[in-house]
Amino acid sequence: MTTNAKHKVTVIGLGDMGAALAHAYLQQGYTTTVWNRSAAKSAPLQAAGAAVADSVTTAIAAGDIIILCVTDYTISRSLLQTPEVTALLKTKILIQLSSGTPGEARELDSWATENGITFLDGAIMAIPDQVGRPDTVIFVSGNKDAYTQSEATLKAVAGALQYMGEDPGAASTWDMGFLIVLFAAMSGAFHAIKLFKSEGLPAAALGNMIQQLAPALGEMLKHQADIIEGGNYHLRHSSLDLCTGSMDMFIKQAKESNISAEVPSFIKGIFKRAQDAGFGTEHVAAAYKTY
Ligand SMILES: NC(=O)c1ccc[n+]([C@@H]2O[C@H](COP(=O)([O-])OP(=O)(O)OC[C@H]3O[C@@H](n4cnc5c(N)ncnc54)[C@H](OP(=O)(O)O)[C@@H]3O)[C@@H](O)[C@H]2O)c1
Repeated sequence: MTTNAKHKVTVIGLGDMGAALAHAYLQQGYTTTVWNRSAAKSAPLQAAGAAVADSVTTAIAAGDIIILCVTDYTISRSLLQTPEVTALLKTKILIQLSSGTPGEARELDSWATENGITFLDGAIMAIPDQVGRPDTVIFVSGNKDAYTQSEATLKAVAGALQYMGEDPGAASTWDMGFLIVLFAAMSGAFHAIKLFKSEGLPAAALGNMIQQLAPALGEMLKHQADIIEGGNYHLRHSSLDLCTGSMDMFIKQAKESNISAEVPSFIKGIFKRAQDAGFGTEHVAAAYKTY
């Protein structure tokens, strides 16, 4: 298989994300074959020009690059690990874009290596509507040859594709690192929207402010990582005692407005544990030491 040729692509799994990937490939002029457990989801893709396979085996036979995008690794393995499919995959490049842990990625990579299958693990850092844009990020990692051979094909749906190195678990590690920050921030945003609404402000106002301040927010989070990496928590600003006091302010406001204090109480618990360990006068990043 050559690196620069326009590969034939097979997409297995036509949930929201798999369907978005398949549509993006069709829009880019790729010969695209699809398979989904529930056949009905193939119809819009067929109408858009995809070949619909009646089995996983037929789908894999039709493609050069096989993209898996199902719920998880357990389902992926159940679809791949039959003797017929395993044999077929030896002449293809298999790219796993279903979400999973670094350990699951390494396990699948080991299975692929043992069976002579060229495998790349990836994580999509986008929602389905963002697939196919020049700024769409997919992290991939593992076999360098698999990356080199599939780079152009992956860039067709993720212009800002990033190769995270030869450890097959790396893409998942970067994905999970981002997602836990995102979900923690979302939980804070839900509290903030309650706070805004209790003061008569719309949720959209909060969303707009956060979007505007996102670069500053990113800088602040990077600052925590730099402090933790450097190991010097004796800075003169943003002490743990000060930040714990801020959480008391949030809990007080929640009581005043009769909204849940769950989020600030949870954060206060983390900060308090570090205070109890004697780090109160250190920078708030010292909370990391009691994780
Ligand atoms: N959606 C997002 O915003 C997003 C963003 C980044 C990453 N991802 C990742 O992309 C992957 C797919 O997400 P999605 O949003 O497309 O999920 P989804 O809409 O829930 O689709 C799940 C897919 O998995 C298939 N599936 C589930 N159980 C199966 C089984 N036992 N055998 C065969 N196929 C099975 C489903 O087939 P049926 O149609 O037959 O049920 C469907 O194609 C996930 O790992 C997700 O974490 C999603």
